[in-house]
Amino acid sequence: MKTATSHPQTSLRGTKSTRIIKPAGHGNGHSGKESSAPAITPALAAWLAKPKQNLIDGKWVPAVSGKTFEVFNPANDSVIAHVAEGELEDINRAVSAARRAFDSGPWRRMTPSERGKVVWRIGDLILRHADELAELESIDNGKPRAVARAADVPLAADLFHYMAGWATKIEGHTIPISVPYAPGATFHAFTLREPVGVVGQIIPWNFPLLMAAWKLGPALATGNCVVLKPAEQTPLSALRLGELLIEAGVPDGVVNIVTGFGETAGAALAAHDEVDKIAFTGSTEVGKIIVRAAAGNLKKVSLELGGKSPNIIFKDAADLGAAINGAASAIFFNHGQCCCAGSRLLVEGDIFDTVVSGVAAQAKKIKLGPGLSADTEMGPLVSREQLQRVTGYMRQGKEAGACYVTGGERKRGEGYFVEPTVIKDVTPNMSIVREEIFGPVVVAEAFTDADELISRANHTEYGLAAGVWTRDIAKAHRIASALRAGTVWVNCYNIFDAALPFGGYKQSGWGREMGHEVLNLYTQTKAVVCGL
Ligand code: NAI
Ligand code: MG
Repeated sequence: MKTATSHPQTSLRGTKSTRIIKPAGHGNGHSGKESSAPAITPALAAWLAKPKQNLIDGKWVPAVSGKTFEVFNPANDSVIAHVAEGELEDINRAVSAARRAFDSGPWRRMTPSERGKVVWRIGDLILRHADELAELESIDNGKPRAVARAADVPLAADLFHYMAGWATKIEGHTIPISVPYAPGATFHAFTLREPVGVVGQIIPWNFPLLMAAWKLGPALATGNCVVLKPAEQTPLSALRLGELLIEAGVPDGVVNIVTGFGETAGAALAAHDEVDKIAFTGSTEVGKIIVRAAAGNLKKVSLELGGKSPNIIFKDAADLGAAINGAASAIFFNHGQCCCAGSRLLVEGDIFDTVVSGVAAQAKKIKLGPGLSADTEMGPLVSREQLQRVTGYMRQGKEAGACYVTGGERKRGEGYFVEPTVIKDVTPNMSIVREEIFGPVVVAEAFTDADELISRANHTEYGLAAGVWTRDIAKAHRIASALRAGTVWVNCYNIFDAALPFGGYKQSGWGREMGHEVLNLYTQTKAVVCGL
């Protein structure tokens, strides 16, 4: 992802080699609503028109209730699909299928090498269908197709490819033991790393395919069985991925996908007694609900939650232009709908005005539009609810007396668009400074003293990520060490890799996804002692 030191939309512009197909005719063939958004490709329209059911025990089935719900294109508010509305009984069936697949299916008997090959093939299939997945992600989530094609889709494929390699490297230890109360006895002791079992995975809407990959990749590489519940706003790429999982050779019941709402399907999964672990990405508020729901059978829990990440620019930044571009990228990438968004910009006093006006200039240049338009640099927010949430924060900031350097309004017309927004003259108690906005809204503050800077940067209940821009290497390391955050980017931002662990300090979560650290979340250790 070349979003490190330049504006994401700008740097991704060079990658727009994907075919932009604009067949003449109507918007999408479903809602009948005329729209200014470019039409989708016929192949995708045909896929969308087919029933969107749940994947349970290797078969596509409707919801037990027969109910469906609508999926919207956030660029024009049109309905693009109807998907099964899974609830408690659907979750029960999916969990039973996963339980059977784990306890008695072929998955556990597969060799690690065979399992790794299945996981690898998922990555290959994602790449083979990259254009189609990018288009689907764009109309479901709203993000520019070129961004999905350059970032979400290849990162998802790479995650499976990376995790495939771990399937053959899940090793225990041999342990010399002393056992003081058994003098003279000898033992052979070792550990096994075994899968946790049936894993419930609840994912959000900001990177729908990529979040499915982050969850499924390690769960499968380590031999677990899964019930995946995609976000109700963006269930489509997970359903397409389900088809690819079958094609890759994932046995029946190993991955079950239930679409539905959080309060019903999600809650049922989190509370289910036959689920051994729940992995969740989403709001801190729901993270706490998950923890309480998991208490019933004390299932294991991993959480990747919200953030209010500080991005710190010192006046000795090696390249101030790069730092300004990086700060814009940190907040505007994915429309600010990133848990690690650099939403608090902390700038050393002398360069405060230069940086703030530079970031504001970037904001003003960003071309808003539907994700399928070739020249779109920022799409709509994901949903009407998110639009209301973000514009609500924009209003609160104004009422509290903050100064809007640029932006601050919804864009008139169809779709859930908001202006990229830069705010200054804020105080620590304002909601826009303390709370996760999850939109393209950054608050900028000046600092002078380095010690005071650290306590300000850390003055948040979150601890997901942070950025530091300086040419002073000792200072960079000092600050990186003092920041209470799961990721610190120095002279870059939003750099992700399947090999890099990601997760939160404080209320940003429990556990680390990706890298070899994630294997701890999906395995448990068994100590075996043989008396000799
Ligand atoms: P959410 O936390 O409600 O939704 C995330 C997932 O949790 C979805 O799949 C949803 O169906 C599920 N869910 C919701 N309630 C549940 C429950 N009671 N039991 C089990 N599962 C449940 O997030 P939402 O409402 O979409 O967004 C609200 C805010 O959350 C955003 O404004 C943002 O601040 C934050 N958020 C953070 C994300 C992250 O990546 N850390 C991703 C999405 C949202
Ligand atoms: Mg919610």
